[in-house]
Amino acid sequence: MTTAIAQAHPNIALIKYWGNRDDGLRLPRNGSISMTLAGLHTVTRVRFDPDLELDSVTLNRRPAAPADRERVVRHLDLVRSMAGASDKAEVVSANDFPAGAGLASSASAFAALTLAAAAAAGLDLTPTDLSRLARRGSGSASRSVFGGYVEWRVGQDDESSFAEPIAGPDHWALVDLIALVGTGPKPVGSTEGHQLAATSPLQETRIASAERRLAACRRALLERDFARLGEVVELDCHLMHAVMQTCSPPLFYWAPASIAVMQAVRSWREAGANVCYTLDAGPNVHCLCPADSATEIGDWLQAVPGVSSVLRAGPGGPARLLDSQDPLTALL
Ligand code: DP6
Repeated sequence: MTTAIAQAHPNIALIKYWGNRDDGLRLPRNGSISMTLAGLHTVTRVRFDPDLELDSVTLNRRPAAPADRERVVRHLDLVRSMAGASDKAEVVSANDFPAGAGLASSASAFAALTLAAAAAAGLDLTPTDLSRLARRGSGSASRSVFGGYVEWRVGQDDESSFAEPIAGPDHWALVDLIALVGTGPKPVGSTEGHQLAATSPLQETRIASAERRLAACRRALLERDFARLGEVVELDCHLMHAVMQTCSPPLFYWAPASIAVMQAVRSWREAGANVCYTLDAGPNVHCLCPADSATEIGDWLQAVPGVSSVLRAGPGGPARLLDSQDPLTALL
């Protein structure tokens, strides 16, 4: 095969990845856990062609910016070296959700690119191999290879750092209501953020206690214990943002409306609702709740001043190959 199309979902981190032991290999300082998000897609087509002189990369129907293209080319180089191939590639990729808004578009992007490029290069890789390879493109992409609730184990080295499912998408019908709060301050991308994490005096404390939070999150997911889940998810989010806000230079991702949503969620919980929040490297607030209360809580969120719209995503499936007739290819 020289052409392949793949689809992957973004994910929301419940226990966060922030900071690497090895930036080149993307070996993280701590393990992380996420939920893969149904209904939000990246679709990517890769075609290797001996007649091409250069790799071409089209993202969301535009030629990729130089830095984005460079990152994709580096990833293609990894795939080519594994396949013993040298043909250049045409890469066309598109999302059906807003990019660069803390929705982890690099996770779905590199999961879909890894799967499509590996298939187009004729590599026969296991899901574990794909996760390890996706990690090299974007750490959080290692988790988007799998569906449902996923843990990326910290690992010792390239070989041992990959993600694996904790439970499938049908295990627990949680919903992520993503409150979009418009444009925050100009974001510093995650890759740069990871490199700054070590400058925070709080990072070592966060890392030293990460195993405890991973264990608590894993247990809460397996036991479908929402109260315990909410407690550890919010604690872990606050710890990551405390590290961000105390690194040098400091990174501040929250907008005023992000704080309004966080305060509203806490007041709804005090009044008895099962809901908690978490934020990645952006101002949008991911509010988690059981599916049976998602419509009501979605309406409440929509009414918080500063919230422009609310996206709704349940647990999604793994990254998968698409045939050329699949309706999702219309995105390209
Ligand atoms: C805050 O995976 O986007 O979303 O490896 O440089 O691509 P790169 O970083 P990325 O970092 C994700 C950071 C986060 C937390 C998380 O998803 O675990």
